[in-house]
Amino acid sequence: MADETGKTSAAGTAAALLEDLHVSHEPDAPLGERTWYRVGGRAEVLARPSSVAQLSAVASRCHQQGVPMRVLGRGANLLVREAGVPGVVVDLSDPAFAQLKIEDETITAGAGYDLFKLVLAAARAGLGGLEVLAGIPGSVGGAVRMNAGGAYGDIGQSVRRVQVMSGSGQVYYRDRDDLDFGYRRTNIMAPVILEVEFELTREDPDELARRVKEIFFYKKSSQPMGARSAGCAFKNPPGTSAGRLIDEAGLKGYRIGGARVSEVHANFVVAEEGAKAEDIARLIEHVKEVVREQTGVELEREVVVWP
Ligand code: EPU
Repeated sequence: MADETGKTSAAGTAAALLEDLHVSHEPDAPLGERTWYRVGGRAEVLARPSSVAQLSAVASRCHQQGVPMRVLGRGANLLVREAGVPGVVVDLSDPAFAQLKIEDETITAGAGYDLFKLVLAAARAGLGGLEVLAGIPGSVGGAVRMNAGGAYGDIGQSVRRVQVMSGSGQVYYRDRDDLDFGYRRTNIMAPVILEVEFELTREDPDELARRVKEIFFYKKSSQPMGARSAGCAFKNPPGTSAGRLIDEAGLKGYRIGGARVSEVHANFVVAEEGAKAEDIARLIEHVKEVVREQTGVELEREVVVWP
């Protein structure tokens, strides 16, 4: 955990754990800069496997030793608290985990592949289904894990098969029949998503490009897209919009330190110059409390907070 310099004092313990595995890793690695918030603490150790076999070795070692392992996507929906993250954080940005294959109406994408690049590649290939994700940042793995989406649809509706890895390093598939995608949730419990197969429909590439643009510009006009945020802070409660509840509670523009409730869309907590991860975490809690007091609605966080 962090001392007053922000360094994780246990650094080295988890690093030693990986020493004989010949997997690239960095003890006490800064994570904040790898998130869209660009603030936050460190990982006790950040591992960068360059093959499925290496990743499997890391997972099974962590499993055997009871060391927590977390997977880092593109940090688009993540807040890392100042105190840092114990154990191993796995970075799947190596090309081994970011391949893209297009074959007939099927696209297979590695978990580390960029979601926006996937949306564009599908549209260009004249394959429909993923254009509904235009403007959503993230990695393919992260997007599937939380069933990313919006008013136009979600990623789950196009997923045919997901290759995952268990905590002990075992690789296996989850097929559509046994996959369940709900509002911002899936029943995939395996700690690592490796690869996703999408079943798409043949459509006119120009029409798809038009829809990508339309959805992108809708988001751009209704959300603070350029700001440092993690997208919507809370899930929408059944039958209503978290953004509207926060707005009606008079919280637009409310700030704690360098964190502020966006004036553009009240469900976005944005980081400004000098923001600390703790400002963001405290503001998210404050919003939740005020909405609970004023409306009785218990908002559920959508942003993932580490640890
Ligand atoms: N509204 C307000 N004030 C606000 C924001 C919204 O009154 O500050 C009202 C709007 O006027 C509208 C209603 O709330 O009547 C819904 O707003 P919006 O259309 O912006 O949709 P949302 O439910 O707030 C959802 C997703 C977004 C997604 C958009 C568009 C959630 C939590 N949010 O937002 O997803 O981009 O639809 O498809 O499901 C995300 O998950 O990170 C995210 C940004």
